[in-house]
Amino acid sequence: MYDFDKIVDRDSTANIKYDLREKFFEKKDVLPMWVADMDFETPIFIRKAIKERAEHPIYGYTYRDENYSNSIVNWVKNRQGWDIEKDWIVYSPGIVPALNFSTMAYTNPNDSILVQPPVYFPFFTAATDHGRKLLSNQLKYDDGRYTIDFEDFEQKAKKATMFFLSSPHNPVGRVWKKEELVRLGEICVDNNVIIISDEIHNDLILPGYKHIPIASLSKEIADITVTCIAPSKTFNLAGLATSSVIISNEELRNKFEKVINTLHLSLGNLFGAVASEAGYTYGHNWVDELMKYLAGNIDLLRNGLAESKIKIIEPEATYLVWLDFKDYNIDDEEIKNILINKAGLGLSHGPMFGDGGEGFQRINLAAPRSTITTAIDKLSSAFNF
Ligand SMILES: Cc1ncc(COP(=O)(O)O)c(C=O)c1O
Repeated sequence: MYDFDKIVDRDSTANIKYDLREKFFEKKDVLPMWVADMDFETPIFIRKAIKERAEHPIYGYTYRDENYSNSIVNWVKNRQGWDIEKDWIVYSPGIVPALNFSTMAYTNPNDSILVQPPVYFPFFTAATDHGRKLLSNQLKYDDGRYTIDFEDFEQKAKKATMFFLSSPHNPVGRVWKKEELVRLGEICVDNNVIIISDEIHNDLILPGYKHIPIASLSKEIADITVTCIAPSKTFNLAGLATSSVIISNEELRNKFEKVINTLHLSLGNLFGAVASEAGYTYGHNWVDELMKYLAGNIDLLRNGLAESKIKIIEPEATYLVWLDFKDYNIDDEEIKNILINKAGLGLSHGPMFGDGGEGFQRINLAAPRSTITTAIDKLSSAFNF
C-alpha cells in the first residue's frame, strides 16, 4: 500500500544527512546512513494536511488547539495503552531541547545526572553544557545483548538529582521490559531522582516487542517522570521541530513550562502542529507497514553480514542498528577510515556514544531495500567477506 522501495532524491534540499556529507565525512561520495531520519517519504496524509493549511495565505502566530491535544491523547492510548490527560501535554520544539529544559528546570549547577552509555550523545551535553555532572551507569554487554547493571545504578542514584532514560534505547536497540523499568523507577522513587524518559522511538517497535512508558507503571513513578515523545522519528518530520512532553505531576509541569515560557518557545511551529495532528490521527496503518518493512531491512543486513566478523546487535526497536566491529582488532579511527574511504559509507561513530561505544558503529536502515543491498556490498568489499 505504501512504496517504501521508492528512491527519493534528497540532494540540495538543505538536509543534514546528504547535503552535509562533505563537512562530516570530508568527502561527498559516501552513502549516508548516519543521521536518524528516514529516506522514506513522509506519509501522504501528512503532506496533504500541510498543503491544505499552506493554501491559507496567512501564517501568523499560532497555538495548539483541542484537536491537536486529543490526537496525542488518543494515539498514546491506542499505541501504548497509556491514559494521559490533555493538560499534561507541554509543547517542546524537540526532545534534545526538552532534555536541556529539564536540566534547567530541575537541577542546579554541580548536581549530577545519570546516563546509561553507550547512549545518544546529546544526553551528555544536556548535562555538561549547564555545568552539571554526569554519572555513568554503563550498560552491560554480554553475548551480543545489553542489560542494565542495577547494583551500579542504585549506588549512583544515591548521588543523582536526575536520570536521562533512553526508552527504547538508542543506539543499542533495547525495548526495556516491564520488570527492568519497574526496578529503575523504584530506585529513582526511593532516591528522589527525577526521570526524564526520552521515548522518541516509542512507535518504532519491531514485531514481537512492546514498548511500556515508564510513567504508566505506577502513580509513584509517574509523579517523578517527565516523558518526551514526538511524531518526528515516527513519521519523518524532524525538520518541523514539534514534540510533546507529558508531565502528570503539576509541580514538575509548572517548572518545565516556566523554562519554555521564559525562553518564549511556547508558540511553536504552525506546520509542525498540523503534521503532528495528521500523523497521530491517520498514521496507525502506515507505522505498522513501516515496521514490517524495517524488519525486512534488518533481515537483509543480518543475512548480508552472516559471513563477516561484523556482529549485529539484534534491535528490538528503532531503525538504527548497532554493529560490533571488535573482532577485527583494529582501532576506532581505522574502522572509521575504512568505512569512509574504502567502503564509501557514512555511519555514526561508536565512541561518540560514550563509554562502551568503542569498536562499534551505528547504521541507519530507514532507507529503501536497494540502499541496504548497496551498503552490504560496500561493507563486503571493504572488509573482504
Ligand atoms: C534518543 C533520541 N532522542 C532525541 C533525538 C532527537 O530529538 P529532537 O530532534 O526532537 O531534538 C534523537 C534523534 O536521533 C534520538 O535518537
